Amino acid sequence: INQGNGVKGLSEMGLKALPKQYIQPLEERMCMTNVQAQESIPIIDMSNPNDLEVEKSICEAASKWGFFQIVNHDVPVEVLENVKDATYKFFGLAAEALEWKDYLSLFYVSEEEAFALWPSVCREQVLDYMRKSEVVIKQLLKVLMKGLNVNEIDETKESLLMGSMRTNLNYYPKCPNPELTVGVGRHSDVSTLTILLQDEIGGLFVRGNDGDNWIHVPPIKGSLVINVGDALQIMSNGKYKSVEHRVVANGSNNRISVPIFVNPRPSDMIGPLPELIENGEKPIYKQVLYSDYVKHFFRKAHDGKKTVAFAE
Ligand code: SIN
Ligand code: FE2
Repeated sequence: INQGNGVKGLSEMGLKALPKQYIQPLEERMCMTNVQAQESIPIIDMSNPNDLEVEKSICEAASKWGFFQIVNHDVPVEVLENVKDATYKFFGLAAEALEWKDYLSLFYVSEEEAFALWPSVCREQVLDYMRKSEVVIKQLLKVLMKGLNVNEIDETKESLLMGSMRTNLNYYPKCPNPELTVGVGRHSDVSTLTILLQDEIGGLFVRGNDGDNWIHVPPIKGSLVINVGDALQIMSNGKYKSVEHRVVANGSNNRISVPIFVNPRPSDMIGPLPELIENGEKPIYKQVLYSDYVKHFFRKAHDGKKTVAFAE
């Protein structure tokens, strides 16, 4: 009944109840009593990225929360709006416990390959979003490295930090029983950094510092949500935190989000950066081949944050 139409197709059939494959175990559902309404992740103004206070707040946010939002960055709002429109277009075209979400994952190899393989409704917008985001990605990585006393990012280090990139178009259709399922289950990202564009609906929650509560990431037009991934937690020898997050299903609205995953290359060995060890830090993670790390992660679908242990 739903061949090829994904969750969107199910949602549009006018279901009265959630199909049972999508019902998540009780402990994985989002219970609103755990939501912390007072706290919120930092919002950082990037108009002067080299200002010392700004640098400090970026490194502090990455250490304390692993998540922050940036505003007044260099990615034009128009580019962000275009990529959101393109995401709607892509899912409009198409007539795991499963998550109430459809997605398209676009791995960037080259412009030529993108032109050959990516759907034409969204490829220009996604390429533009990725190209324009590169400036802010480099600014953030530079600041975060400086916070570790790593002051030079040569070509090898740049490729280790951001040698491969992937953009996902996520579509979370409105759900008949949002309380029984999830949009995305608890997980941490395997990336170095993730840059996330979300629409105005909301529903992304981040695990708070005390570990027991979940903090909503409010949509702010024109902002990008930044989070530290496992690769950066490992490379920073635990200073920057890759934090669990999840997305609730929504009973009244469709939602989209468009993350760019900034990753090492599959063939890179990742471990605490040599500069940190030379400064006398004891490595808390061993060196692992990034493709092995990713393979380990995806053997089991979203199962919370267990993965960094693989490098311990
Ligand atoms: C994810 O973390 O996988 C998705 C985040 C979002 O849709 O907000
Ligand atoms: Fe994620």
